[in-house]
Parts: sequence; C-alpha cells; structure tokens
Amino acid sequence: MYGHLAKVSFILPLLFSDVFACSRVTYNSGPSDGNRIVIGRSMDWLTPTNSSIFAFPAGLQRNGSAGANSAEWTSKYGSVITTAYDLSTCDGMNTQGLVANLLYLADGDFGPRNTSQQAMSLAIWPQYFLDQYATVAEAANDLFDASGEPKFQVRTRDLIPGVPSLMHVSLSDATGDNLILEWLNGSLVVHHGTEYNVMTNEPDYDQQLAINEYWSSIANFSLPGTDRPADRFARLAHYVDVAPGATDEVTALATTAGMIRAVSVPMEPININTPNITPTLWRTFADTKELVYYYESATDGKIFWVELTKLNLSTGGQTMDLSLVGVNWTDRVGDMTGQFQQATPFTYMEADT
Ligand SMILES: *[C@@H]1O[C@H](CO)[C@@H](O)[C@H](O)[C@H]1NC(C)=O
Ligand SMILES: *[C@@H]1O[C@H](CO)[C@@H](O)[C@H](O)[C@H]1NC(C)=O
Ligand SMILES: *[C@@H]1O[C@H](CO)[C@@H](O)[C@H](O)[C@H]1NC(C)=O
Ligand SMILES: *[C@@H]1O[C@H](CO)[C@@H](O)[C@H](O)[C@H]1NC(C)=O
Ligand SMILES: *[C@@H]1O[C@H](CO)[C@@H](O)[C@H](O)[C@H]1NC(C)=O
Ligand SMILES: *[C@@H]1O[C@H](CO)[C@@H](O)[C@H](O)[C@H]1NC(C)=O
Ligand SMILES: *[C@@H]1O[C@H](CO)[C@@H](O)[C@H](O)[C@H]1NC(C)=O
Repeated sequence: MYGHLAKVSFILPLLFSDVFACSRVTYNSGPSDGNRIVIGRSMDWLTPTNSSIFAFPAGLQRNGSAGANSAEWTSKYGSVITTAYDLSTCDGMNTQGLVANLLYLADGDFGPRNTSQQAMSLAIWPQYFLDQYATVAEAANDLFDASGEPKFQVRTRDLIPGVPSLMHVSLSDATGDNLILEWLNGSLVVHHGTEYNVMTNEPDYDQQLAINEYWSSIANFSLPGTDRPADRFARLAHYVDVAPGATDEVTALATTAGMIRAVSVPMEPININTPNITPTLWRTFADTKELVYYYESATDGKIFWVELTKLNLSTGGQTMDLSLVGVNWTDRVGDMTGQFQQATPFTYMEADT
C-alpha cells in the first residue's frame, strides 16, 4: 500500500529538514463584510500529493488507525477535505465553518507511546476535530482530561524510510478564533486565540512568535525575503496585519489569496544545493461564512470551489469524492459541487505502534 511512495525515497533523505513547507493565514474581512473569516493555506511539497477532495457526511464511524487503544468516534459534522495520497486529511472545513490545516513541523516530537492512553494516526488528526467540533473553543476545551493529560496521543509513521512524518495542526473558525497544536518533546503545546492567525513550519510556535517580534517592529520598512519558514511567517504576519477590509466575498477571497500567493514558492529546479526549496503545489481558501471551500492548483493554474451547503452532509448522507489525479483540468474549474461522485471513505495511514 505504501510501495507507491518508494520511488520518491531516493531524493528525500538528501533534502530532509526544511524541505516540506506550507503557510496558513486567517483573514477577518472586517465589519462592512460581516467579519467574514477566510482561511488560506499553501501546500509546498517536493512531489505531487495526488490529492482528492472528499465530502464526508455526519454519522461516520472513525478509528484512530494507531493500533491498540486507538481512539474511536462518530462524526458529528460533515466536512469537505483535501487528502494527501488518499492516506491523510491534509486540510478541510466542516459544516459549522471549523477549518483544520495540517502543516509540516520538523521539530515535532510525539513522545513515546503509552498504551493506557488513546491514540490516533497523524493522518486522521485534523479529521478528528472536523468530525466533532463546531468551534475552536469547543475543541480547545476538550483536549485535556481532568488531570491535565491530553485525551489522546498522536502517532506517526515514516511514509518515506528515514524521513519522519512530523506535522502540526491549526484550527480556525467562523469567529476568527485559532488553535495551534504542536507536540514538542512528547507534550501537547497549545496556542489559543484570535491573535494566532499565521502559521508556517519550524521552529516551534513560541520561537516563531519571538522571531516575529523582531520583524513586526520594522515590517513597514523591511521584511525577510527567502522561502524559509520564519521568513514566510514574518511576511504573512505583516500582510494580514495591514490587509484592508473587504466589502464582499470576492474581495475577501482575493485578499486572502493575495497573501498566500505572496508567500508561495515558485517552481524552481530541485537541486541538492538549494535544499530549502519546495514549490507550492496547491492552495486552499475556506470561506467560513458562505461555507465555500476553494482549491487552486499551482501547477495547472486553475481554481474551483465546493459549496458545502449544497451537499448532503447530514447523518445518513453519502461519502463522495472529486478526483484530481489524471483529470483534464478544464474539467476542474468553477463550481464543482455537482461533480462529486459516490465513494467509500479512503483508508487512513496506519501509524506505527
Ligand atoms: C501519483 O499519481 C501519478 C499519476 O497517476 C502516479 O504516477 C504516481 O506514482 C503517484 N504518486 C504517488 C506517490 O502515489
Ligand atoms: C481500530 O483500528 C485498530 C488498528 O489500528 C484495531 O486494532 C482496532 O480493532 C480497530 N477498532 C475497531 C472498533 O475496529
Ligand atoms: C500512561 O498513561 C496513564 C494514564 O494517563 C498514566 O497514569 C501513566 O502515568 C502514563 N505512564 C507513563 C509512563 O507516562
Ligand atoms: C525539548 O527538549 C530539548 C532537549 O532537552 C530542549 O532543548 C528544548 O528546549 C525542549 N523544547 C521544548 C519546547 O520544551
Ligand atoms: C505600519 O504602518 C501602518 C499603516 O500606516 C501603521 O498603522 C502601523 O502602526 C505601522 N507599524 C509600525 C510598527 O510602525
Ligand atoms: C440527506 O440524506 C439523508 C440520508 O439519505 C436523507 O434522509 C435526507 O433527506 C437527505 N437530505 C437532503 C436535504 O437531501
Ligand atoms: C481537455 O479538455 C479540453 C476541452 O474539452 C480539450 O480541448 C483538451 O484537448 C483536453 N486536454 C487533454 C489533455 O485531454
């Protein structure tokens, strides 16, 4: 099942560390647009992610896919999500406007397995939140048990031998609230609040905020320009800080897209002498007010969208997908809500136990 990834393995260990990137921003369009919250993210990766878009209804039985004592739950909300290799939920929004983004974090450390605690695979971690919570506050209040222990562990698996699959998650909602979730030295570290509207990659979030302190005071005059995560963070934090308000969904989307495109990485030859470069392959924009999920290919230059309110994502609804691999991109433009086809949920990547 993972054999298809072997062909990329020859190059990745050479480049490992800063190679996997991504950026994410939460934009508030302001009072003249009803404080519409739009979340934008880029996916920067070495090889195509062979993504599909899945529409999951409420009422799905889930399994954390992490061996003994895997967490189990039933989806309370439907969602529309983007996969990586149809093994993982990478990104998505649920019917309540909760948005989850999975981004690389080389400094992540999930700690040792304690089988007394429930666990889930990294691959389903973002989906766990989309399935169960309407808001960031709800998710934040349900992370730890009465003794302060996280309610679950996250487990991973090296998709590519020798290259750890390490990620952090951001959640955002229709009120503009944000939750940054990182496992560092085996502990779950949380940042919760409207101010955490930017996320990129390593170092850990506290260090990222500290670096940004420096840049934010001079950002009107000088910003760092490379593709390194701390540089993208400083630029994106400035862009969203000074972004104008919007008057309608089109300008709100355009403003968010403008920021994410400005921290995207262009196509450049991958060369072991320039290991920090992974091109942006795609971008998503989630309009939490209209419940419209936009996908923009950076390799095919097209944008399409899905209207969650026009899909039947209620309990008993059907899982559906929209394939993106091997399709003619002229067939993936504009409103694709009607193009979803009945599907069975994909099998999440089973974590090492
Ligand atoms: C991605 O899809 C392409 C085209 O179908 C295929 O050749 C390739 O092996 C796939 N890559 C992975 C890692 O699954
Ligand atoms: C959930 O998956 C694990 C393997 O990851 C398995 O051991 C367990 O039996 C599954 N639970 C159910 C209810 O299917
Ligand atoms: C494993 O988890 C249980 C339940 O939370 C806890 O009581 C125990 O101390 C943990 N063991 C270790 C080695 O951390
Ligand atoms: C994790 O542990 C390392 C080594 O012990 C330490 O340098 C680092 O500061 C720790 N990080 C956090 C976030 O606690
Ligand atoms: C940057 O410019 C904006 C717009 O003029 C201003 O509101 C802000 O205070 C400036 N920031 C700093 C740190 O000077
Ligand atoms: C959605 O699907 C469920 C299960 O098939 C059905 O009971 C319900 O009427 C459907 N809702 C709409 C709005 O089509
Ligand atoms: C894609 O579809 C368009 C419009 O139907 C057609 O002109 C084009 O040749 C197709 N491209 C491929 C690669 O099939």
